[in-house]
Amino acid sequence: MGIIEQVASIVKDRMSHDTTGHDFWHVQAVLNNAQAIASHEKNANMILVSLAALLHDIADHKLGYSDEETRHIIQSILSDFMLNDKMIEDVISIVQSVSYKGGNNIHAPASLEAMIVQDADRLEAMGAIGIARAFAYGGSHQRCMYDPTLNRSLTNNQDTIAHFYDKLLLLKDLMHTQTAKKEAQKRHDFMLLYLDNFYAEWQGRL
Ligand code: ADP
Ligand code: NI
Repeated sequence: MGIIEQVASIVKDRMSHDTTGHDFWHVQAVLNNAQAIASHEKNANMILVSLAALLHDIADHKLGYSDEETRHIIQSILSDFMLNDKMIEDVISIVQSVSYKGGNNIHAPASLEAMIVQDADRLEAMGAIGIARAFAYGGSHQRCMYDPTLNRSLTNNQDTIAHFYDKLLLLKDLMHTQTAKKEAQKRHDFMLLYLDNFYAEWQGRL
């Protein structure tokens, strides 16, 4: 097994129990997206992109981990492999820059590889998968799917549909790479179509 497969297997063991959209299959999809984007970008380091994609949610701040704990966990996983310190530092720096944190992350993506992994993770919140993740996350946080009495021009609505306006429909303008921008536009259009159908069905527009 190569290093990517071995790290994947460690991540899989640690992340198999999540039901909020952060299970190993989310990580696998981010890896797939990230590798696809990297293959279109000149000079992207594929090993770095792959390791950072695999480890991007291993110790997320939403799960209560600090930057220091994230660094520790990644160091302890990667120290078993023949990697130089610079590579491990680069992985840590990418993972710390990927998190959305309500758009307030202080660690801006500092390299092409960081931009690629961030794009790949953001794509996962969009389109068919993104819609599924939003409802899965909403359900796991006691949110109702949709409250038709809410005013969509206001913020702070607490149903899952609100999350489309708070975050999902803003993501297409936050992509860095050309490949992700193109894919994000497709997923964005799909979400708009989805919302049109969603409202039509609730309103009995048959
Ligand atoms: P990641 O860390 O993989 O970027 P997040 O942890 O921010 O993603 O969120 C996991 C998934 O749950 C995402 O698809 C995100 O859009 C969705 N999500 C986050 N917050 C909410 C919310 N308040 N309501 C519905 N879905 C949400
Ligand atoms: Ni993620």
